[in-house]
Amino acid sequence: MLIIDGKKVSLDLKNELKTSVESCHASTGKVPGLTVIIVGHDPASQVYVRNKAKTCKEIGMISTVIEMAADTTEKHLIDTIHELNNDPTVHGILVQQPLPKQIDEFAVTLAIDPSKDVDGFHPENLGRLVMGHLDKCFVSCTPYGILELLGRYNIETRGKHCVVVGRSNIVGKPMANLMLQKLEATNCTVTICHSATKNIPFYTQQADILIAAIGKAGFITADMVKPGAVVIDVGINRIEDASTKSGYRLVGDVDYEGVSAVASAMTPVPGGVGPMTIAMLLKNTLQSFQRINGL
Ligand code: GUN
Repeated sequence: MLIIDGKKVSLDLKNELKTSVESCHASTGKVPGLTVIIVGHDPASQVYVRNKAKTCKEIGMISTVIEMAADTTEKHLIDTIHELNNDPTVHGILVQQPLPKQIDEFAVTLAIDPSKDVDGFHPENLGRLVMGHLDKCFVSCTPYGILELLGRYNIETRGKHCVVVGRSNIVGKPMANLMLQKLEATNCTVTICHSATKNIPFYTQQADILIAAIGKAGFITADMVKPGAVVIDVGINRIEDASTKSGYRLVGDVDYEGVSAVASAMTPVPGGVGPMTIAMLLKNTLQSFQRINGL
């Protein structure tokens, strides 16, 4: 069984991005900048934001983190986004989700200039993705990272049956729509399963490429997987484990032990899809810089 090593690919990608950032600086005298807004004190969000800022700096980009109090109003957040939309030193804007209850996440997404929406959450970017105009849009980072992994591992996709389990706006929907496109690393027959799907194993057993984005530890078991399938695990679930220092460990949506005996290739958790997400965010930020500067 082939282990699809997202950690290694993300390191390769970050090295490539670092070189590109250097050449952008040499030709324009400017560097790409990413601004991340975090509202409140959600510990998981704080870890994600810290990692994004650290990786940005590693590859030579400008990273700015704006921290806002948990009781920030939607108006204040949107006013700040409008300022960033008009700031020429900012090429990417990301508002970390989830947001506190008083703020409408969709209104915030709509406020971000689509040309700086490096998360790819704005309906204009998602719409362009659905319509196949990938050269002019931002693809949300997790699906984009999975596409990159499939491409770099030369996974055959044309005419294959891809089953996506999960229908979130961030992963499931853009992922399924990407795999549907008539591109080199896509061109699949696509099925989407979700919480109301009757008999999920009936579908997953037919998948040549199975993408699990459910958010439930070990949901996909060996009996649900066709022998020889390629299995991509998007899940990051904390489960209690008294044998570790922190008292927990991270596991995916796929039962790794069982499924690795059936699949032909698979992403581990951690070290699979996760490290690719930040790398693709930086790739999107670089792309934004290149578009804005006509490179
Ligand atoms: N929260 C969890 N994942 C993400 C992400 O990719 N982008 C944003 N903005 N928030 C998130």
